[in-house]
Amino acid sequence: STVYLNGEWLPADQAAVSVFDRGFLFGDAVYEVIIAYNRQLFRLEQHLARLTRSLSETGIQNPFGIHEWRFLIERLIELNEGDNQSVYLQVSRGVSQPRRHNYPLNLTPTVFLSSNPLLLKSQRSSQIKACSAVTLEDIRWSRGDIKSTSLLGSVLLKKQVFESGADEGILIRDGWVAEGTASNVFLVKESKIITPKISDWILTGVTRDFIFELCFRYGLVIEERDVSLPELVDADEIWLTSTTAEIRPVTELNACPVGTGNIGPLWKKMAAYYDRHKA
Ligand code: PDD
Repeated sequence: STVYLNGEWLPADQAAVSVFDRGFLFGDAVYEVIIAYNRQLFRLEQHLARLTRSLSETGIQNPFGIHEWRFLIERLIELNEGDNQSVYLQVSRGVSQPRRHNYPLNLTPTVFLSSNPLLLKSQRSSQIKACSAVTLEDIRWSRGDIKSTSLLGSVLLKKQVFESGADEGILIRDGWVAEGTASNVFLVKESKIITPKISDWILTGVTRDFIFELCFRYGLVIEERDVSLPELVDADEIWLTSTTAEIRPVTELNACPVGTGNIGPLWKKMAAYYDRHKA
């Protein structure tokens, strides 16, 4: 595949960054994952708005304006294979030697973009894949609102998820539902859709916002508020949302069935709306 690194287009295996890059040494970097359906970027403005916010919250210089970002990402799609692609975009604070926690001002950020062909759910299997989840104590830092590459907490949690035999982890902070290890959480109770409200603990998912838009469009009731662990356990349906997973039904939580244990009617409705409006 062809990647972009600091102004150059290169074969992926020829792209290299300095060992003194602060992204490598400190995880001092932010990122986005963006999808293209049929070579059209989905919700690009929302991803770029979030990127701009992550950069300003971390004080990393934004190397480009919105139009330049759009141009670069569109070029990346053109240069790579696959009608459906998953774009990875990362901006680190830059290279600084010797290693020290405090950063010098005016570093030149390291910009990296790559793309992978994406198999859509419908291509992966003819049937909808329901998934199982376990709840875990959220051990990550308290600025989950920043899409940072410092992901050691998520990496360790994901390992625990797979060791438990489940597909996904739902993270609990002081008894309250936060989000998935790399997704947002929704639940359905008595035909009402509920999702934890935005805070410093969780990421404002682009997909989460899309679900809100679909709810308003189709007149479905959606509530944004604190959600307790017992409420999650007692839900009729649970969904996880993210750019790459879209909207995924969870039919088993902590080895117990969610609701009836089958994929729920509101998920089916929402997934159909999602497919209708995602292109
Ligand atoms: N993950 N919460 C976390 C912690 C995430 O990492 C993600 C995305 C989301 C959902 O955000 P969005 O709907 O904008 O994709 C929520 C990406 C896809 C990833 O790390 O691969």
